[in-house]
Amino acid sequence: MSKKILLSGIQPSGRPHIGNYFGMIKQLLGQQDEYEVYALIVDYHAMKSVQNPKEMRENIKNVVLDYLALGLDPKKVTFFKQSDVSEHTELCWIFDTITTMPYLMRAHAFKDAEAKNKEIDVGTFNYPMLMAADILLYSPDIIPVGADQKQHIEIARDTAEKFNRTFGETFKLPKDMIMKEVAVVPGTDGRKMSKSYNNTIPLFAEYEEIKKAVMSIVTDSGEGIPKNVYAIHNLLRSAKELDPIYKDKTGKYKELKELLIEDIEKFIAPLREKRKEFEKDIPKALAILKAGSEKAKKVASAKMAEVREKIGVQVY
Ligand code: AMP
Ligand code: TRP
Repeated sequence: MSKKILLSGIQPSGRPHIGNYFGMIKQLLGQQDEYEVYALIVDYHAMKSVQNPKEMRENIKNVVLDYLALGLDPKKVTFFKQSDVSEHTELCWIFDTITTMPYLMRAHAFKDAEAKNKEIDVGTFNYPMLMAADILLYSPDIIPVGADQKQHIEIARDTAEKFNRTFGETFKLPKDMIMKEVAVVPGTDGRKMSKSYNNTIPLFAEYEEIKKAVMSIVTDSGEGIPKNVYAIHNLLRSAKELDPIYKDKTGKYKELKELLIEDIEKFIAPLREKRKEFEKDIPKALAILKAGSEKAKKVASAKMAEVREKIGVQVY
């Protein structure tokens, strides 16, 4: 029996944070033995926010080092970069031709951008189609993601169904894998932890940075349990372990924050060390990505050959 397939992607748009880790990366890396895993760096998606070549190169390199430090085993996982596999943008175009504007106008990301009265670029509007291509080229069974990506997976399913209805059975319908407890990891201000809100605890933060971030966690002036501190702490320790501590230290916000700093440091310190090891040989790390892209390209080009046949452009 061949293994089921799991795929997920991350944008090289800045430093990953513990929300990315607990919401998605942990699920991806935790399944390296059970599933055939595809880990994708979506650099073309990141172009929405990164439009500086030096920064883009740095970000890509950093994600590679991050994943390797977190334990991605390149022998087990196909670790690759979207821009190396041109079939992604090719399939995106084909999906564009079977998708309507009103349908994409219902996407949350587009509606949020519209509500903020932003000048919306076509890439932001079309984002879910490129993501559908990322997914459907590899026929995955499940996609681990945070709750913010749920709608994008639904769009990928709808697009697969529409294509299959129009041109015959071609794409497998993927399912999301969203872990309830970590679907939305809160940031230091209590909102969703997000690179764009400045409320993150970076995954490879140095001690001083962890301290600063935790000390900035917003607490109310009440006497009870600091909700935001507890929520982040709960990522690292079970409620069973935490509840007696928080009960014992009711109202002692500073002490609780200090305890959280120590727990985050215990979690991050070994990761930071591992990352430093990988930093010593960046060409080797990048060669892993290149080899992964070559492997992915084979799968994607076979799927595209099938798509071209189905839509009738294959005449030779
Ligand atoms: P991004 O940084 O937007 O590329 O996100 C990478 C992955 O992390 C996606 O699967 C997101 O759903 C997930 N993610 C990002 N922020 C959070 C968060 N605060 N809580 C849970 N998952 C998150
Ligand atoms: N949209 C995802 C995010 O912002 C990134 C992404 C792009 C992705 N393509 C994907 C995630 C395919 C899973 C599968 O987090």
